[in-house]
Amino acid sequence: MTLTIRNLRKTYGRGTAARTILDGIDLTVAAGECVAIVGRSGCGKSTLLRLLAGLDADYDGTLLHDGAPIAGTDLRRGIVFQDHRLFPWLTLADNVGLALADLPLPAAEKRERVRARLAAFGLGDYLDAYPKAISGGMAQRVAFARALVNRPSVLLLDEPFGALDAITRTHLQQELLALWQAEGLTVVIVTHDIEEAALLAGRVVVLDQHPGRIRRVHDVPLPYPRRRGDPAFGAVHDRLMAEFQDDLARAA
Ligand SMILES: Nc1ncnc2c1ncn2[C@@H]1O[C@H](COP(=O)(O)OP(=O)(O)OP(=O)(O)O)[C@@H](O)[C@H]1O
Ligand SMILES: [Mg+2]
Repeated sequence: MTLTIRNLRKTYGRGTAARTILDGIDLTVAAGECVAIVGRSGCGKSTLLRLLAGLDADYDGTLLHDGAPIAGTDLRRGIVFQDHRLFPWLTLADNVGLALADLPLPAAEKRERVRARLAAFGLGDYLDAYPKAISGGMAQRVAFARALVNRPSVLLLDEPFGALDAITRTHLQQELLALWQAEGLTVVIVTHDIEEAALLAGRVVVLDQHPGRIRRVHDVPLPYPRRRGDPAFGAVHDRLMAEFQDDLARAA
């Protein structure tokens, strides 16, 4: 049951300036699922993710997390954006520790949680480093550590690897898969990258535009780890790519 979206409608602006971005969205994401959301630029993917995160409470319809309405952010939902959004004046440990600020835990336990999370991302030697001293891939790992330090059950990802080079992206995709499997997380990942969707997701949701609706949901019934060279993987990839070739043909 985890995430339930029913008849979701999102409009930006008022009166004559009102623009409906999402309309009639229905989707249920089960506990432990990894769902990818793809669609053309501007179709409302980030809008949908922000609504799920509770960063935007202005919508019509129903959004539930474990049956309870989503009304504001929640420690049970972690979020990672394309840019790491770390504070440059804080160490990596303090950046991650901020996410624990409101938890009634002893300081020593918070420190240990932060250390363990950063260590799990290979950053155990960088607790006292500042964001400017680390690479883009490392900074994005810190963003994941910050999103996970509260032990959320749901991880919401908005093109989390979009700004990384291909090698770093591949590493982080593998780390995400390992984490997802080890911790039983529920993952919703917005991506521009069809291959990434096919590598990671059990279902791929294709969003349409004007207004954003779900055009189709593709099942990806392939075991993990998935290999790019595998013919079954290639078939899924082609099926997803075809969604966008239709788009181009219609535009022509
Ligand atoms: N705060 C806002 N106020 C008004 N319009 C907005 C706001 N945020 C987004 N929009 C508009 O809503 C539409 C959807 O934006 P959104 O960022 O959700 O798209 P997206 O699918 O994530 O695009 P991209 O793939 O480029 O990231 C766009 O037309 C955008 O201009
Ligand atoms: Mg976006």
